Amino acid sequence: MKFFRRAALIAIAAVATLAVLPAFSAAPQVNPPQKMRIGVIGSGSLGGSVGRAWIKAGHEVMFSSRNPDELRAMAKALGPLASVGTPKEAAAFGEIVLTALPYSALTSIGRDLQAELRGKIVIDASNPTRWSDGDLYQQAMRDGVGATSARLLPGTRLVRGFSAVNATAIAASSEGRRTTLAVPIASDDKAALVVASQLVRDARCAPVITGNLESSRVFEDGTPIDEADTDEATLRQLLKLPPN
Ligand SMILES: NC(=O)c1ccc[n+]([C@@H]2O[C@H](COP(=O)([O-])OP(=O)(O)OC[C@H]3O[C@@H](n4cnc5c(N)ncnc54)[C@H](OP(=O)(O)O)[C@@H]3O)[C@@H](O)[C@H]2O)c1
Repeated sequence: MKFFRRAALIAIAAVATLAVLPAFSAAPQVNPPQKMRIGVIGSGSLGGSVGRAWIKAGHEVMFSSRNPDELRAMAKALGPLASVGTPKEAAAFGEIVLTALPYSALTSIGRDLQAELRGKIVIDASNPTRWSDGDLYQQAMRDGVGATSARLLPGTRLVRGFSAVNATAIAASSEGRRTTLAVPIASDDKAALVVASQLVRDARCAPVITGNLESSRVFEDGTPIDEADTDEATLRQLLKLPPN
């Protein structure tokens, strides 16, 4: 019951905020009513950096691995908000889930963890690569990575996020060692964008909403936006968006 009450509060806050916003104009300023439980699937460079930043913000994060024992020392060092599990356990644990995997692995995650992920906001940072993803790479280039991830993770409220920024830049921003890093995000689900925007801010980065999932093409691999690793004003200029 507690989980559903919390999810309902998040949804009400999101809808109330969006009611007064022009569509996709700027990342809305809203604080989640409470700290969240987040499952991280793929706890390597990207998942590890973002997960650590969320722990610092006070969220509960379950890092997952196919060999969870390998993550126990890291989680112990992060303190009581960090835990470790399998990808299935992290998918079940998270109110929100971050996927940061070799792109082809999304196929099995979407198929095997469909029940655990159903209806959840999934922030997908995974990028297809020409040399390791074969046909899936070709499909993603044709249909868009956003549309392809949404197809591979059916039933989720998909957000593309943290896919076009470097893990080391995220870590530096979250630790205050550089100017605040701008993170482009996109989704067809506006309420999910409100929550994702807040989570980007919680990682001490600045969300820049490009629009719906199709719009995430502007920050795919090979675009000038990908790994620009810049500040919000510069990123908005590059994207030809008005200043925030
Ligand atoms: N690194 C960056 O700066 C960066 C920036 C933006 C986007 N990305 C994207 O994020 C994704 C991950 O990149 P990364 O650099 O973090 O890679 P990484 O350090 O190699 O981590 C990938 C993680 O995925 C897990 N994994 C691999 N195959 C899996 C499977 N079949 N099922 C479940 N988990 C699996 C591995 O965990 P276990 O082996 O422990 O299970 C591993 O820890 C890529 O798609 C990349 O394009 C990375």
